[in-house]
Amino acid sequence: MSKQIVVSGIRPTGNLHLGNYFGAVRSFLKMQEDYNCYFFIADIHSLTTHPTPGDLQSGVKQVLAEYLACGIDPEKATIFIQSDVTEVVELYTFLNMNAYLGELERTTSFKDKARSNPENVNAGLLTYPVLMAADIIIHKAEYVPVGKDQEQNLEMARKFAGRFNRMYNCELFPIPQPFTFDGGDMIKIPGLDGSGKMGKSEGNGIFLYEDPKEIRKKVMRAVTDAGPTEPNSKKAEPVENLFKLLKIMSQPDVVAHFDAAYNDCSIRYGDLKNQLAEDIVTFTSPIRERILEILKDDVYLGKVARMGAEKARESAQATLKEVKALIGFKRLF
Ligand code: TYM
Repeated sequence: MSKQIVVSGIRPTGNLHLGNYFGAVRSFLKMQEDYNCYFFIADIHSLTTHPTPGDLQSGVKQVLAEYLACGIDPEKATIFIQSDVTEVVELYTFLNMNAYLGELERTTSFKDKARSNPENVNAGLLTYPVLMAADIIIHKAEYVPVGKDQEQNLEMARKFAGRFNRMYNCELFPIPQPFTFDGGDMIKIPGLDGSGKMGKSEGNGIFLYEDPKEIRKKVMRAVTDAGPTEPNSKKAEPVENLFKLLKIMSQPDVVAHFDAAYNDCSIRYGDLKNQLAEDIVTFTSPIRERILEILKDDVYLGKVARMGAEKARESAQATLKEVKALIGFKRLF
């Protein structure tokens, strides 16, 4: 039986942080063993924020090295750079004809970005979910491992896939499903600033590439509160978030110890932060060392990117041929 298909991507707009790792990369590592995986670097998507050519190039190289350092294996998964497979832009154009202004304007990520950056509300931002749908369906993906923040974009991809099938009376595209590491809900890794998610532009992230000293400093500065005064009280958001990180990074007995200390009001947040920082450093240090090694090897990085582009193009071209025939792009004269 042929393997089920998986597609996912990460924008090269900065180093990978713990949110990227636990929201996406951890699933990539699990899925590459049993699925036919296409993992890419979404450099076209990153153009919405107008990077300089230098920043774009170094961002792509960095994320490629980080994918590999995390353990994504180019022999098992197809690792590629989005702009190397230009067929996706063609499919994006076709899908745009059936994507409506109202539904695009209503997406929360568009509204958030338009609000936070009113001087750069470009059409690429508006049609961002259409390009993302093209990324996914061009390989006929059945699963998409992403974090909670991508839920709505994935919902749009499902909608566009179904709409194409209905419009051309076919079953060309599977309706892609979210994939989560533990089979539960899609996850959101919180930042260290008390509320919201860890993000590249939020200034609240811990990066896999980061120096251990910097990680310790950041964790020690994380927002908390004055501490519980009543036994078994509800945790306020900043403290709840620290516990969420602890649950991801530390052993269950460590979490149980601090939970008990919180519940009997004996907790010292400094101790919790020290423990959390050490557990993060233990996790990131070997990845950081591998990133530094891989970044030195341009020949290897080039080989991986070329090999991935070739495999991804083959799959994209086959789908695009079917799409064009269905749309009616054939010469009758
Ligand atoms: P990006 O680059 O913002 O994030 C990459 C992946 O990391 C996940 N993620 C998180 N998960 C949990 N908690 C967090 N704090 C957190 N921060 C980031 C994201 O959910 C994502 O899985 N639009 C996508 C890139 C993309 C894509 C695609 C993804 C383009 N085309 C097709 C899947 C399929 C993005 O900007 O991800």
